[in-house]
Amino acid sequence: MKTMKPLLAPSILSANFSRLEDDIRAAERGGADYFHLDIMDGHFVPNISYGPMIAEVMKSITDIPLDAHLMITKPREYIPKFIDAGVEIIYPHVEASYDVYRTVQMITDLGGKAGITLNPGTPVDSVVPLLDLLDSVLIMSVCPGFGGQKFIPSSTGRITKLRGILDELKPSVRIAVDGGVGLDNIGALLKAGADFFIAGSAIFHADDIEGTVKAMKKAMESA
Ligand code: DX5
Ligand code: ZN
Repeated sequence: MKTMKPLLAPSILSANFSRLEDDIRAAERGGADYFHLDIMDGHFVPNISYGPMIAEVMKSITDIPLDAHLMITKPREYIPKFIDAGVEIIYPHVEASYDVYRTVQMITDLGGKAGITLNPGTPVDSVVPLLDLLDSVLIMSVCPGFGGQKFIPSSTGRITKLRGILDELKPSVRIAVDGGVGLDNIGALLKAGADFFIAGSAIFHADDIEGTVKAMKKAMESA
């Protein structure tokens, strides 16, 4: 199996927005590698969050790189705005476009790192036709739309299967996992082949945000 330095991306969806900067600082002190921005349009998923402005706000608070998870039906209308705002990795959903190659191509053409996201019901080999453009694949381990949901156990096997496909075709592609990730399962997910961990409520609903990020990073390093 391929080994890349595992990365941790706190999802600010579960942060306290009345003290966003304090929550970000605590996650920074803990060693956050990225901050994950969940963009929801109330159409692709049954919830509305925030738009490109959140990337500008985050850029004004932190130098840690950003990734944007686009849970929206028209990703191409917004990708340039997220790139302009300085987002490094963009993860549209494979289910959102019948011409998803064009969507991914737009990200790389604009100088971003392209990811693609798969919902729990989507076959993992659907990423194969996109691999020449991809930097990472995001496996949803809950149905997208809300923080704080329970991890879907079959996601672990999906990660292992995808890691096998990637090792054969393009080993440099990372596997991100998003939804119900926490201290209790991060080690097993790393062993399954994930190397980019997104966690919202496990981090921002903890009493000690900094300590939780540190503990998760330690668990990633010792798995
Ligand atoms: C869910 C989002 C996740 C969410 C994860 O649709 O994509 O990024 O913030 O939250 P937790 O870690 O609480 O499951
Ligand atoms: Zn997400």
